[in-house]
Amino acid sequence: MTATRTTLVIGATGTTGRRTAAQLIAAGHRVKAAGRRATPLPGTERVRFDWYDPATFDEALTGVDRVYLVPPVGDPEPAPVMVPFLHRAHAAGVRRAVLLSSSAIPEGGPAVGAVHQALPGLFDQWAVLRPSWFMQNFTGTHTHADSIRERGVIETAAGTGRVGFIDADDIAAVAVHALTDDRAPNTDLILTGPQALSHDDIAAILTQVTGRPVTHHHLTYDALRDRLAAVIPREFATMLADMDRAIAEDAEDRTTDTVLRVTGRPPSPFRVVAERELSFPAASVTGPTR
Ligand SMILES: NC(=O)c1ccc[n+]([C@@H]2O[C@H](COP(=O)([O-])OP(=O)(O)OC[C@H]3O[C@@H](n4cnc5c(N)ncnc54)[C@H](OP(=O)(O)O)[C@@H]3O)[C@@H](O)[C@H]2O)c1
Repeated sequence: MTATRTTLVIGATGTTGRRTAAQLIAAGHRVKAAGRRATPLPGTERVRFDWYDPATFDEALTGVDRVYLVPPVGDPEPAPVMVPFLHRAHAAGVRRAVLLSSSAIPEGGPAVGAVHQALPGLFDQWAVLRPSWFMQNFTGTHTHADSIRERGVIETAAGTGRVGFIDADDIAAVAVHALTDDRAPNTDLILTGPQALSHDDIAAILTQVTGRPVTHHHLTYDALRDRLAAVIPREFATMLADMDRAIAEDAEDRTTDTVLRVTGRPPSPFRVVAERELSFPAASVTGPTR
């Protein structure tokens, strides 16, 4: 595939979109970076885009032939805004769509599962990325990362269930292949890191890497749901608590070889990602928390 193709990256300021845009640029592809915020991304053309403002769709779609789709975050039913956009994208000349979903959400499942179901009927070239939980939840701007920095704790209802946590850099690497390889995957891809780890394992690795004690607090399902419902809509809080319960019941205790198969290199272990994103000189262990 040549560098003259242009990818619209939706969610280009977010965890996977930012990395996907950067890796596309590094590989010589053109990127239109879409989002509500005007954060500049070197080498990309910026375009304002809001899932809830269809007036932003046409300019975003001008001159692009493929699209990386991050759903509107926190919307429990994104299909009513995403599917009309996808029809418009196809009419505007987009030929390939790569959707970010989740290992926890099957085709036809809740939330983005309905968009997954619609995608093959809309595009001849498509892929649905279904990553496990992100390693960056513990290093970036997620609630877990915040509570680690502020109180040295991870709070979940996941019990001792294990998860095939994945590096967002590896998700982006798969996204780049899915977007630009001559043959599109035309399937969903379950993406994991190299190991399934419990949140107790994660806390132990973070303690070793940062030199500050990190503890996993085991919450009940009800306690987690009620705590989340104090800050986000109850329906979304229940969905997130359900996901933790699924982890506790071992639904995420698996690894796949998809990253290696698609990119030709193995996915990064959590320790490597934590060292890359969280370590700081021993002298500052009691100073900055990230
Ligand atoms: N965290 C995990 O462990 C995990 C695991 C599996 C799957 N996932 C899935 O990953 C997705 C989140 O992806 P991510 O981590 O790459 O994103 P993210 O870091 O949460 O960032 C969200 C991106 O979407 C953009 N955005 C938000 N609302 C928008 C709107 N109304 N219109 C246009 N753009 C909007 C934001 O940019 P602006 O604010 O600039 O608009 C930002 O670039 C979710 O769907 C989640 O289900 C997460």
